[in-house]
Amino acid sequence: MAFDSLGAFLEELERRGDLLRIRTAVSRDLEITEITQRSVRVDGPALRFDAVTGASMPVVTNLLGSPRRIALALGVKSVDEVAVRIGGLLRLRPPAGLLGAIRDLGGTISTLETLRSLGPKRVRSAPCQEVVEDEVDLGRLPILRCWPKDGGRTVTFPIVVTSDPETGECHTGVYRLQQYGPDTLGFHAQLHRVGANNLRKWAALGKPMPVVAAIGCDPATLFAALSPVPEGVSNFVFAGFLRGSPLELVKATTSELELPAQSEVVLEGFVDPVERSLEGPFGDHTGYYSAPEPFPVFHVTRVTRRASPVYLGTVTGRPPTEDAILGKAVERVFLPVIRLVLPEVVDMNLPLEGLFINVAVVSIRKQFPGHARKVMHALWGLGQLIFTRYVIVVDAEVNVHDLSEVLYRVGLQADPEEDFELVHGPVDQLSVSNRIPNLGGKVGIDATRKGPDEGYDRGWPEEIRMDPAVLDRVEALFGHEPELKRRLGARPPG
Ligand SMILES: Cc1cc2nc3c(=O)[nH]c(=O)nc-3n(C[C@H](O)[C@H](O)[C@H](O)COP(=O)(O)O)c2cc1C
Repeated sequence: MAFDSLGAFLEELERRGDLLRIRTAVSRDLEITEITQRSVRVDGPALRFDAVTGASMPVVTNLLGSPRRIALALGVKSVDEVAVRIGGLLRLRPPAGLLGAIRDLGGTISTLETLRSLGPKRVRSAPCQEVVEDEVDLGRLPILRCWPKDGGRTVTFPIVVTSDPETGECHTGVYRLQQYGPDTLGFHAQLHRVGANNLRKWAALGKPMPVVAAIGCDPATLFAALSPVPEGVSNFVFAGFLRGSPLELVKATTSELELPAQSEVVLEGFVDPVERSLEGPFGDHTGYYSAPEPFPVFHVTRVTRRASPVYLGTVTGRPPTEDAILGKAVERVFLPVIRLVLPEVVDMNLPLEGLFINVAVVSIRKQFPGHARKVMHALWGLGQLIFTRYVIVVDAEVNVHDLSEVLYRVGLQADPEEDFELVHGPVDQLSVSNRIPNLGGKVGIDATRKGPDEGYDRGWPEEIRMDPAVLDRVEALFGHEPELKRRLGARPPG
């Protein structure tokens, strides 16, 4: 089931008891953060603050801070189903024989038809333009101050639309916007983001870049905007694919940019190509305050909105946070895309503790000497995985999600002198340990089994395993000894 708007999703959440309304007055400065974090920590409900002090609209937080709500937003029981759909889309193989050709052609045509039918629909009038405010005063919006030392209140969950001046193609990303003044915000698209790249292109032309920030739209479109969609794939088409129905787009009122018609509040304006202003500090995904840094300035020239909008915010910080829970879903959904480039990858875990970009554990079907290193280097060249500080490669049978098993393999199977691959390259702008911003070290750990073809001549030792016949006999014995079965638990894995 696709949700057309944030409102439709909130209604469904409320029906399911997964949205809690808070009717007592709450401050948008810090208090909403504290309540939101408590809900995220216990896998609690989405929150709707109906009486935010001094605000004319309710604030919603923790919208997608739970795997169950992410699945609902994407119309599936588990996000793995989306991965299967994407996997199906990518499986374009040469057909086997005439019958296979006819069958596969039918499949390919229906896939292409489906994709075409999911492309965005353009509309002329839109709920997000019911009210148009030319006298911009961002103070009218319940923009949150998330952490005590933040440099200002910040729009934390906007869908920011920019375009490539060469192709005119629109791109969406979630970039925070810290409030500078009544009509200016910091445009925090990090160095490696498409939004920052688009700005470099506009700057090269000496022109201001039109920008739109849509706050609060249907949850699948939000998910598409924060996803590392491969270059050349439109976030709007991806949103349609996730929703299983086309996304309605409307043109902005002051530029050629397109945006989701069902958004709640829209900030329209431009970013000057050369102007910079200090952004930060800001309590970031890392659990640290990001230090103040110069960022471009987003001048808001018009606000459009629904007649009775809802404001959507989120809180970043040390995980567990809403964005961290979203990160896990992104990891699952995009695994087939990684497998397209690296078919030897069995599974991958970007642990929450590693903030998704710091640590990757990958299991592979190893086929040749140095295979683990090939995988490391491929990942360091792939989308946002280029930022991964530690890539741990293990054999196919290792459960990458069991970090205790992974550490066991690293400790036992990786020789620091031989099996560490130290490289230097781009790192995430938020990364704190590198001496030079955006540039630093990364290490790959090859914790796979080694053979003589990799210089290991000692003969890899055999792992201890119990005789399966004994396991069966003990299971049978447990059948006669219920207390033993209850106290000693199930058959061990292996
Ligand atoms: C809640 C949240 C806040 C984010 N804030 C920022 C931000 O301020 N700056 C940024 O560059 N990326 C931020 N991101 C990450 C981007 O949205 C993400 O990398 C996305 O894939 C956009 O990348 P792209 O513009 O390169 O396509 C945030 C993500 C989430 C979920």
